Amino acid sequence: MEDLSEKRPWILMPAFTADQFLLHMISLGEPEEVTLVGVFGDRGRGSRQDVELPLHRDGEYSARKAAEAGLPFDKQVDIVGLYCIRESSTITSLAWGSESLDINLKQGQALIFDNNLCLHGRKGEVGDRILLRVWVKRR
Ligand SMILES: [Fe+2]
Repeated sequence: MEDLSEKRPWILMPAFTADQFLLHMISLGEPEEVTLVGVFGDRGRGSRQDVELPLHRDGEYSARKAAEAGLPFDKQVDIVGLYCIRESSTITSLAWGSESLDINLKQGQALIFDNNLCLHGRKGEVGDRILLRVWVKRR
């Protein structure tokens, strides 16, 4: 895989399997968190609800919540990988520099981006979509 760069801080990988995705992600650095992102209820975090998410960086919300509670947040989210387990019509948005892109992830595809250089969000109904999300800290 070509490296994520300032000019191109994201990559869309073609269909492969979830275990290939996980092995690829841990080749990029140290895994900080693995999460299932989908509609699992109507309470709690945005990653578990059917809500649109404005452009953001992963980890910032967790860091803010931890600070409010006086707790430490020691995860470093340099790279985010989103592997699509089940697709829907949801659009994933990326914005970097003065550029932006909307992607509808298909089952088996993975979107991997530099969380420091890229903002991301989502639009439309999440519906049945399930993603496997991995946060990686660069070595
Ligand atoms: Fe996010």
